[in-house]
Amino acid sequence: MTQDRPAGGNRLSGKIALVTGAASGLGLAIAARFLGEGARVILTDRDESRLRERADALGEGAAAQRLDVTSEEDWRAAIAAVSQRFGELHILVNNAGICVPGTIEQTSLDQWRSTHAVNLDSVFLGCREALPLIAATCRDGTARGSILNISSVSGIIAGANLASYNSSKAAVRHLTKSIALHCAREGYPVTCNSLHPTFIDTPLLDGFAQGGERETTLAKLARQIPVGRIGQPDDVAFAAVYFCSDEASFVTGAELVIDGGITAA
Ligand code: NAI
Repeated sequence: MTQDRPAGGNRLSGKIALVTGAASGLGLAIAARFLGEGARVILTDRDESRLRERADALGEGAAAQRLDVTSEEDWRAAIAAVSQRFGELHILVNNAGICVPGTIEQTSLDQWRSTHAVNLDSVFLGCREALPLIAATCRDGTARGSILNISSVSGIIAGANLASYNSSKAAVRHLTKSIALHCAREGYPVTCNSLHPTFIDTPLLDGFAQGGERETTLAKLARQIPVGRIGQPDDVAFAAVYFCSDEASFVTGAELVIDGGITAA
């Protein structure tokens, strides 16, 4: 998994980005790539000690802010802190998420609610709380803003044992389009798009092993993917750089599968 700060270019130079769930997996890889492309990044997570460790390791340009994405109060405090420290915000990546496998018959109401709180309420709260600052940052037309929501291929195709995850990620896909249309109608130069990865090698997949060997589980998952491998965090991070750069200013309300061909079949 990426932890070092990779060399890059300046595709995000001058931009301030906030990434949720950035102490691990995809969020950390996205933060690292953004830094490599010249952005300043506020890494956020509910796991504060791991978050600070990761942000310190990434070095200059990386800041840490504790943020439980299910908490309206935390979101308000985080955006106020960004506003006070930087005075502007160009990019929001709603990445934090959880996956509790279970069929409709196996899923408790608590699991259903907590999955939707972390995966969906988070996107609603994050977009609502951050959009005024992003829009104000871009008001004079010299800067552009981007919101990127990390959904999943599970938001497009369903699996019997992912009832709450499927539901929450499908809702993120559609909410993304509603936000994109709102921004367009208001004349904000702000795009809103969603990414839909399949299995990516992060701690999120630990839950799929269910007591078995992790490597065996990952090999089994890889056999379901046409290209024959599971993804790496950078497979998603490279796409995130594009969607949040000015190269994608005409791309909004869009969804990109990063799935090794699964949905092509
Ligand atoms: P991960 O488990 O490695 O990282 C998730 C991070 O989110 C952790 O640092 C965790 O502390 C944080 N988090 C969890 N609940 C939080 C909360 N309430 N507030 C703030 N932070 C919280 O998982 P991964 O794989 O990096 O997942 C990132 C996103 O990508 C998730 O939305 C996930 O659903 C999505 N995704 C992941 C795939 C995969 O196979 N790894 C495939 C498709 C989508």
